[in-house]
Amino acid sequence: MQFCLELAILAARAGGQHARLNRHRSSDVHKAFAHDIKLQLDLECQARVVDTIQRHAPTHAILAEEDEGDVAALPGGPARASARAADAPLWIVDPIDGTVNYFHGLPMWCCSVAVQQGGRTLAGAVYAPDLGELYTATADGPALLNGEPLRTSETATLEDAIFLTGLSQKNESDAVPATLVERLAQSVQKIRVLGAAALDICRVARGHADAYWEPAIHLWDMAAAGLIAERAGARTTVLSRRGTRVSFVATNAHIHDAVTQLLTARHSP
Ligand code: IPD
Repeated sequence: MQFCLELAILAARAGGQHARLNRHRSSDVHKAFAHDIKLQLDLECQARVVDTIQRHAPTHAILAEEDEGDVAALPGGPARASARAADAPLWIVDPIDGTVNYFHGLPMWCCSVAVQQGGRTLAGAVYAPDLGELYTATADGPALLNGEPLRTSETATLEDAIFLTGLSQKNESDAVPATLVERLAQSVQKIRVLGAAALDICRVARGHADAYWEPAIHLWDMAAAGLIAERAGARTTVLSRRGTRVSFVATNAHIHDAVTQLLTARHSP
């Protein structure tokens, strides 16, 4: 477990530092989409992370954001064919989570690295260089921010809660329905959209936010941060899953039932 944590930190730092040191190239767009971009640095930072993992754990499998198209079709799940053994640990990598923030010079972006085995997350690191924040956890240890223990908030009611979500527009059917945003806005103290899912979930771990939900984030957005939140006292729920996409909730536990009821009530007549 300790080996996994140390390697996750090393890899997240390698990716994050590459992005930070190459900020002058942050407008090198690799591909532009409606409402989203893929930067050259997304690819380069992923290569840094993957090289670091493969140097220290050459037999492990890797699922990384920028391989999305290539890995989806692999048998047995989306992991690199080259290094895959049936029970090999699986590293899950988002080289730059919050790419659009990074592109615009906003500091809320991070490099996220988790390792799972048998579907259980063993360790995770979320590194946000511009904020000077390194969030870490193992499955049997505390959640830490820069080495200091984290604890979720004590907020006990929705009306006192800060609620984070994301307005991903990659796929219209995955967008948060406007009516649900209205209902959330009426029920919680404030909704905030900060633009990097892994950091949002870490903010629940830290107690700066009370709940996070997004209907279609990818495993690489939440694998490390989900563990960090849980080890800080959060409750998490995957409401639904499609391929590598999940509808994911993380709360301070006190308001978990209220949040999930509110989110699932939209399906009721
Ligand atoms: C995105 C960010 C954003 C969230 C999207 C993610 P990316 O990740 O986390 O906050 O709303 O769902 O896809 O594309 O910047 O790695």
